[in-house]
Amino acid sequence: MKLFDVYPINDITIVKAKGSYVWDQEGQQYLDLYGGHAVISIGHTHPHYVQRITEQLNKVGFYSNSIRIPLQEQLADKLGKVSGRPDYQLFLCNSGAEANENALKLASFHTGRKKVVAFRKSFHGRTSLAVAVTDNPAIVAPVNQTENVIFLPFNDDAALEECFAKQGNEIAAVIIEGIQGVGGINVAEAGFLQAISRLCKQYGSVFVADSVQCGYGRSGKFFSHDFAGVDADIYSMAKGMGNGFPVAGIIIAPELHAKHGMLGTTFGGNHLACAAALAVLEVIEQENLIANAAETGKYLMDELKKIPQLQRVRGKGLMIGFDVPEELKDLRKNLLWNQRVFTGEAKPNTIRLLPSLALRKKDADEFLEAIREEIHTMASVVVK
Ligand SMILES: Cc1ncc(COP(=O)(O)O)c(C=O)c1O
Repeated sequence: MKLFDVYPINDITIVKAKGSYVWDQEGQQYLDLYGGHAVISIGHTHPHYVQRITEQLNKVGFYSNSIRIPLQEQLADKLGKVSGRPDYQLFLCNSGAEANENALKLASFHTGRKKVVAFRKSFHGRTSLAVAVTDNPAIVAPVNQTENVIFLPFNDDAALEECFAKQGNEIAAVIIEGIQGVGGINVAEAGFLQAISRLCKQYGSVFVADSVQCGYGRSGKFFSHDFAGVDADIYSMAKGMGNGFPVAGIIIAPELHAKHGMLGTTFGGNHLACAAALAVLEVIEQENLIANAAETGKYLMDELKKIPQLQRVRGKGLMIGFDVPEELKDLRKNLLWNQRVFTGEAKPNTIRLLPSLALRKKDADEFLEAIREEIHTMASVVVK
């Protein structure tokens, strides 16, 4: 059987990983500034993480949500503390799309309404409702198309006010990434998030903060929406939550009430997933990784701003983007093949950095050296 060929892949086989580095089968080392798409939060194969999952697997790996799973309660407790939202409620699932799907479904159950406001360049996942609120027609199948989604320009207060003035009473939810990831590292302005919060309260709509990519400490705060000093009604999270173990969830404000059977999943919240998620939070706390993301991210961004060829260096913490001019369009590819550095991209010309939150200053320096050297080499080839 062949694989269903949906991913354009780099011909590299990773066989070993540690901290912010990975190795291929020839023993070649790579610096990982991509974190497997913002997933590696505490660093590859962190010893505490490996030990906690191994120990759990030797006890019980899985049982369904038909029994008590105390690890879920421990996770809820810890997440409440680390996120600063101890009064919220946790629903566990398996992926970012599923988290957003459940968030929007819950908003619709809660309000009895159908319409959802989303924003240009958003990405919220590929399941039916998550993809319907994603601004990319190429991945929306005909069966996913719906009249219920209203796309508004990002960071446009006037358009938001006008939309609510016209149909606020029909809006179940507003969903927004605090920093758009796939859309190219676009930071939501504090005033815009505050307007969403105010209008949702005024019209009884649910504010959904998609924190799948920008959350879990990546921005230098637990949720990037926290920079605006707002409380969303639901936060969705996934990528960094399990450091690679598939675990996701939504946390839900106390005003939204649960009913048996309204949400559900077979795998979500299983023993192994909870052990992985707990290990991640323990390391985030013990190693002060949110502060490290803020500090190392600022250093990296300040240094990148000094490289004249890089345009619009932007982001927060260790979620950084910059644009490359046409003559450097192969920079990302060259960083991988010549400098052995993994980075992310956003079309058409943005390089995205989404490393582990444990990235050290010396790893950042190694990256800066690599990018300077590659730009220098590419410039001399152009001149010749
Ligand atoms: C902001 C955001 N939301 C949702 C998703 C979907 O997550 P998953 O691929 O785990 O379904 C992603 C994935 O890139 C994302 O960046």
